[in-house]
This record gives sequence, structure tokens and C-alpha cells, in this order.
Amino acid sequence: MRIAVAREVDSSEPRVAATPDTVKKFKSFGADVVVEPGAGIKSGILDAEFEAAGATLVAGAAKDADVVLKVRRPTDAELSGYKRGALVLAIMDPYGNDAALAALAKAGVVAFAMELMPRITRAQSMDVLSSQANLAGYRAVIDASAEYGRALPMMMTAAGTVPAAKIFVMGVGVAGLQAIATARRLGGIVTATDVRPAVKEQVQSLGAKFIAVEDDEFKQAETAGGYAKEMSKDYQAKQAALVAEHIKKQDIVITTALIPGRPAPKLVSKEMVASMRPGSVIVDLAVERGGNVEGAKPGEVVEVNGVKIVGHNNMPGRLAASSSALYARNLLTFLETMIDKKEKQLAINWDDDLIKGTALTRDGAVIHPNFKPKTAA
Ligand code: NAI
Repeated sequence: MRIAVAREVDSSEPRVAATPDTVKKFKSFGADVVVEPGAGIKSGILDAEFEAAGATLVAGAAKDADVVLKVRRPTDAELSGYKRGALVLAIMDPYGNDAALAALAKAGVVAFAMELMPRITRAQSMDVLSSQANLAGYRAVIDASAEYGRALPMMMTAAGTVPAAKIFVMGVGVAGLQAIATARRLGGIVTATDVRPAVKEQVQSLGAKFIAVEDDEFKQAETAGGYAKEMSKDYQAKQAALVAEHIKKQDIVITTALIPGRPAPKLVSKEMVASMRPGSVIVDLAVERGGNVEGAKPGEVVEVNGVKIVGHNNMPGRLAASSSALYARNLLTFLETMIDKKEKQLAINWDDDLIKGTALTRDGAVIHPNFKPKTAA
């Protein structure tokens, strides 16, 4: 059983799919671990540390590997170097990328999309959306405070009082909860909104104030899976009116709102941005999925009438050492379910919900029910 740790070919991706700790674990399961030289460098992990953990450094590590661990979906060029039948674990970004899924199938690999991991108790330690969103929420507040020209906590000094910053978090999933907690730790006065009623208590328990249009539609806005639904036009109008009133008094706004499989909801309009004081900062964590904020640009910090709109791509990558450590643990616990430790070999239970939920391709075909090509009726 040979496990390869790839170096990310996308130069904007600083994360790595293994750490010396996870390498040690794989070794203890009886695997050989090969690491592409330089794979961990942008996450602060030296080749020598991987070697000390028992890995071998090999250029083109993925060749002949039974398992390839990656952060991003492999490119066609990478795939051409993989063994047919190899398992490939990565954040595959499958929605709207049919051609890339077809390429994975054609390469004959068994591709697992880590972001499709079912959100059930057993899989919590494998949940890459949570592990990465948590860090993104933290980093959004840190980035906001760096762009903000004032202090966040209230300070009473001999030279006068600095008021506490008012921070508004829109969308309170995993990222939003961590943004609230971080903003509170930094001394901000925090409010938050979401369309799911379950969130209200969580917001209050973190010491923030919950603000939302709490009508009948709101009471039913959560799906069985715990996600938000797309709201009606009528609700969106009421929500916009409430937000417009609130936002003009805010110093920092962090938006994180997403709806699975849909473009991000637009929550902050041009007019709302214009209503904010110069020097205010907005961080749009949904920018890569279409954005919550009108005028946000992926990969840029734009300034509109003195209001900064921060649209960094790959927020978890801005904390590469932490995000790699958690991502590597997510991969370790998932791959562990596929290893027979006694026989020291791979043994996949194809009926396992975790496998069925994440496996995209197998034996040359796309097998995931959400992405299987539609056959002619
Ligand atoms: P997400 O990343 O899909 O969305 C972020 C937030 O945006 C959500 O709270 C959503 O309700 C909110 N949102 C969507 N449309 C909005 C709108 N128009 N206005 C305001 N807010 C809007 O969500 P995430 O972080 O993936 O979490 C989704 C749920 O899954 C949460 O309930 C979370 O607690 C739950 N969860 C469960 C896990 C488990 O293993 N049981 C693990 C992780 C999360």
C-alpha cells in the first residue's frame, strides 16, 4: 500500500494534504508514504520533517501510488501520471465541472470529493468544509481588523476613549460562528443574521445579538440537512430593508452566506455599501461563489467611497499551516476507514455512506448520483 502526498501545482494553493503527524499514522497502518519534494514548504513543513516521520521523498511521487492525497482536483497533466485504479482524495469542486469529472473517470482513478462528506456524527472529523470554514471565519475578522484604520476593542486612555468597533456577521454557519467568536474576543460589539432559526440561540450563546426577519418563512427556512433554502423574493425584500437600516451603523461587515449548489445570495447592495462610513470594511467570504456583496471582486480589495470590500480567494490558504494540519487530519480519518490494518492493505466498503457520498468516479465512469451523466430517456 503506497500513499503519495502530491505537491500542489496551482501556485495560489499553499496548503498540503499531509503533515509529519499524519505520515506517521499512515506508516503505523503499514503503508509506504512517498512525498513530492517541496510539497509542504508553503505550509511551513520541510522535506526533512516528512522524512523524519518516515516518508520517502520522490519526484513524481504519485506514479505507482495506490492512494494520492491532494488539496485540489488533479489537472489532466497530473492525472496522466497516476496509476489506473488509484484512489485520489481531494477537494474536487465537482459542481459545474463535468469535463473535469469526465477526465477523472477517463484516467481510471477512484476520485473522492472531500467536500461531499455527509454531515453525520461519524464523519465530523472528516468534514473539510467545517475544518476549513472555521479557519476562514477567523481569518476574515483578522483581515478586516488589518484593513480597518481603528482599534477593535474599546480603550479608555488618558488621551481619550477609542470606541469599540461594531461588527455585523451575515450568515452564521461554521465560518460565521467562528467570525462572531473571534470578533467578540477582539472586543467588538457583534450582531449577526441568518435565515435559519436554529442559529438564533447559537449567536446569543456567543454573546452577540441576533437580527433577522422572523416571519413564517424564516421558521421553515432550514432543510433537513441543516442548510439554508433560497428565500422568496418577498422575504429577500424584507431582509434587505432590515439590513439596510442596520448596516449603515456598522464598522465591519463579514458575509459568509451560502446555499449548497446555488450562487451565493446577494445580501449587501451598492446602496448599502454607499451608506457605510468611509473607513468601514466589508469582507466577503462568499466571493468565490458569486459573492454576497455587490462590487466585491475575487482576489482583490476594492475601495468604494472609502469603504473597503475585501474579496480574498482561498481564505483558509491564508492560514496555510493551520488549514493544512486540519485538512490532513480530515484525510487521515477518512482514509483510515478504507484500510484493513491487519492485512495492511486497502479494503473499501462500497456500501458505506461515507464512500457512497464522496466517490465521484470508479472503473472509468462517473458514479456519483448527483453528477452521473444523464442517459437519454
Ligand atoms: P453554509 O456555508 O452552506 O452557509 C453559511 C450560512 O449562510 C448558513 O448558516 C446559511 O443558513 C446562511 N445563509 C444562507 N442564505 C442566507 C441568507 N439569504 N441570509 C442570511 N444567511 C444565509 O453553511 P455551513 O457553515 O456549511 O453550515 C450549514 C449547517 O450545517 C449548519 O447548521 C451547521 O451547524 C451544520 N453542520 C453540521 C455538521 C455535522 O456534522 N453535523 C458539521 C458542520 C456543519
